[in-house]
Amino acid sequence: MVRGEFERVFGGSPEGVWAAPGRVNLIGEHTDYNDGFVLPIALRQSVRAVARRRSDGLLRLFSAQGDGRLAELATDRLAPGDIVGWTSLPAGVVQVLREAGHEVGGADIHLDSDLPMGAGLSSSAALGCVVAAAYRDLYRLDLPPAAAALVAQRAENVFGGVPCGVMDQMASSCCTAGAALLLDTRDLTQRQIPFELAAHDLRLLVLDTRVKHDLADGTYAALRAGCERAAELLGLPALRDLAPDGLSAALDRLPADLGPLVRHVVTENARVGRAVAALDAGDPAGLGPVLTAGHASLRDDFRVSCPETDLAVEAALAAGALGARMTGAGFGGSVIALVPADRAAGVTEGVTAAFREAGYAVPGVFTAVASAGAHRID
Ligand code: GLA
Repeated sequence: MVRGEFERVFGGSPEGVWAAPGRVNLIGEHTDYNDGFVLPIALRQSVRAVARRRSDGLLRLFSAQGDGRLAELATDRLAPGDIVGWTSLPAGVVQVLREAGHEVGGADIHLDSDLPMGAGLSSSAALGCVVAAAYRDLYRLDLPPAAAALVAQRAENVFGGVPCGVMDQMASSCCTAGAALLLDTRDLTQRQIPFELAAHDLRLLVLDTRVKHDLADGTYAALRAGCERAAELLGLPALRDLAPDGLSAALDRLPADLGPLVRHVVTENARVGRAVAALDAGDPAGLGPVLTAGHASLRDDFRVSCPETDLAVEAALAAGALGARMTGAGFGGSVIALVPADRAAGVTEGVTAAFREAGYAVPGVFTAVASAGAHRID
C-alpha cells in the first residue's frame, strides 16, 4: 500500500521501504547535552520512507502529512536557512552526508507517519533517521546506526535550528525490540537492557496531552546554555562530571537561577542509575518511584512541565499508576505512566476525566511497546 502511494506521486517503482521509530525516554531528561545518561525505548509508531535513487541530483520529497505538494531540491545547493519547514531535515541529512564525504546523489522519497507530531515523541528525529537509513542502503554507505544518528542530529542542529542532544536520534537508530537503551551520551557507549513489561503484568502508557511546543523557539536553547554556563562556572567539562556528593558545595558557588538546573541534572543522572538497577534486578515495577521523582525534578527544578503534564501525572498516580512523568523536552508533549496491566483502563479513564474537568483537550493514549530502531521493512 505504501508502495502504491509512491507510484501515484512519483510514477514508477521504488527501490525499498524503511521505517524509523519515535521514542519515549524512560528517565534521563535534559541530561544528554550535559554528557550524561539516558534510557529511552523506541516505539512501534514510526516514520516510513518509500524511496529510490535519482541520477540527476534532485531530491524530491512528498509527505502524506504535508500540504499535498511535491518538494524539489537540488542536492548540490542545500544550505541551512534556505529551506524552511519539514523538508529542511531530509535535506539536512543529505547535505551532512555529502559534507562527511559520502558520495550521494538525489532521491525520490515518499514519507508517511503514524507518530503524532509535536507530541514529544521525536517525530523529527524519526524523520531524519529514516532518511539516513534509506540513503545508507540506496547508496550502499558505510553508516552504522550510531553514525546515522549523529548525521540526523547534525541535520537537526544545523538545518532544523534546534541545538538538541543526541538521545532522540540514537533511540530512533539504535534501539532494539524488547529493550531499553542505556546510553552514555559522552562516549556513546550503549547497553540494551531487557524491557519486557508484559511478562511482569505491567504496561507503559503514553498520554499525549495535545499541548504542542516548538523546540526551535529558543526555550530549549536557553536551558542548554544555562547548563553549559553552570559547568563553566564550576570549572567542569560538563555537568555530568559533578558527583551527587559535590552538589551542595557546587550550589553555593552558583547564581540562584542556575542552581536548580544543576540539581536536576545531577539527580537525574543518579535516577538513571536507580532505574537501571531496578531493571537489572528484574524488578521493572521498581521504576515507578524513580519516574515520579523525575517528574518532580523537571517540574520544580528544571521547570519544563506545564499544567497539563502535571495534571496527567497526578491523575495517573491517583488512579493507580506505579509512577509517571513527562517525557521529552517538556512544555507539553507526552506523559508516560507505568501501570499494572489490570489498571491500564482505570488510569486512562482517570486522566481523561481529570482533563475533561479541567477543560483540557482529550488526551491521546496508547501502550508503548519497546521496538526496533531504524531498518528496512521491504
Ligand atoms: C529533546 C532533545 C533531546 C533531549 C530531550 C530532553 O527531545 O531532542 O536531545 O535533550 O529533549 O531530554
